[in-house]
Formats: sequence, C-alpha cells, structure tokens
Amino acid sequence: MNTIGIIGAMPSELADIRKTLGEAEVRHISGFDFYINSFNGKTIVNACCGIAKVNAALCTQVLADNFSPDCIINTGVAGGMNSNVKVCDIVISTEVLPHDLDLRFLTDYPPHCGIFKADKELIRVAEKVCRDFGVDSFRGRIVSGEAFVSDNTLKASIQLSWTPYAVDMESAAVGHACYLNKLPFVSVRCISDNADDEGAMSFDEFEKIAAKRVADIVLKMTEII
Ligand code: ADE
Repeated sequence: MNTIGIIGAMPSELADIRKTLGEAEVRHISGFDFYINSFNGKTIVNACCGIAKVNAALCTQVLADNFSPDCIINTGVAGGMNSNVKVCDIVISTEVLPHDLDLRFLTDYPPHCGIFKADKELIRVAEKVCRDFGVDSFRGRIVSGEAFVSDNTLKASIQLSWTPYAVDMESAAVGHACYLNKLPFVSVRCISDNADDEGAMSFDEFEKIAAKRVADIVLKMTEII
C-alpha cells in the first residue's frame, strides 16, 4: 500500500505518531488538519477527527476524497467489554457497528449494511505486530456510541446485545464511511478502562500509556502493509 490514512479522535491519540513521523506538511480541509509525511517510502496521512461518530465519518470521507488512501487505520483507546480483555491490551476490530442505533435503519435502508467488516489482511498485520511487540491482543467486534461508557448497567446491556470486545465512540463511523468508499480499514484500539463504574478514573490514569502503546503498533503496521 502506498498511501495510508490514520485517524484518531483526540490529539493525545496522535501525539506519539506525529512525534515519530517528524515535521509534516499540514493541509487544512473542511475543518480538519491532515498531517502528511513520507515514511519508509510510503505516504502517511494522519488526522485528528474529534470525538464521536459524525466527526469520524466526516474526517474519513474528507481523507478519502482528498488523499485517495489505500486503507484507513483507526487508532486510539477504548473501553474493554470482554472479561478476558485487560487495561493496556489491544483489541483489533473484526467488525464494527453502532451500539446506539437500531441496525434496521441501516439494513432496511441505504447503505443496507449495519455491521462493517474490517479488512482481513490489516487484521492479520495488526495481530502480528502485537505478537512481535509482546503485547496481548484480541480480535473481536468493536461497538461505538455517542457516550463514554462508565456505568455497569449500560455496559451489561451493551454486552448482552452485542457481545463486543471493546467500546469506543468512532470505529463504527470510520467503518461505515470506508464501506461506502470501498476502502479497507481496521480499528486498532488499546484498552484504557473497563467501561464500568470505575471507567472514568481508569481512563484518566491509563489514557496516555494506552495511546502511546497503540501508536507504536500502528506505525509498525505501516511498514508491513
Ligand atoms: N474510549 C475509551 N474508553 C471508552 C469508554 N469507556 N466508552 C466509550 N469510549 C471510550
């Protein structure tokens, strides 16, 4: 792949990637700053989309329209939703969906798809890099919604409906936009909290560590794909 798009929601989720990539050309389009670097013979375009699904979908579309990426990697932190997944583990999306929308609105009407499959090769590479780094990783479903989940009752209800491995606020929208643009994507997330009653406290403690860990993994992935 020659051009790789990387999208994160918060500046902290891109800080380590930008530090490693060094000075970039920055293009400001439709309210987003796109950082463009040559890295190991490839073009890497990274952008901070902001939090939640509208931001993530828009940013993915603007990146697709202006940079013709060969794939998109969504990176950042997430809440753990499976009892085997621990804080600082990595979850690699097999598929993504919104947990706060009746999926019939997506399946019965355009785009006639509500669960967006991640690219198998990108999943394989993400898994390999985690293995090489000695980091525990899990493949599984990632769900996204318009809320930071830090409540045992809400967590249990999402688990019952969707059996996800992780919850965040953007992956489903990146996957949705990539589906419409026929673009391979994967979401690679480091767990910052368990999306439970202690979720907010854990997030504050582990967000930076988790963001750095996943940034290293995503940059290594770009060398292989
Ligand atoms: N991102 C990181 N942790 C999260 C959580 N618990 N809920 C939603 N998004 C998150």
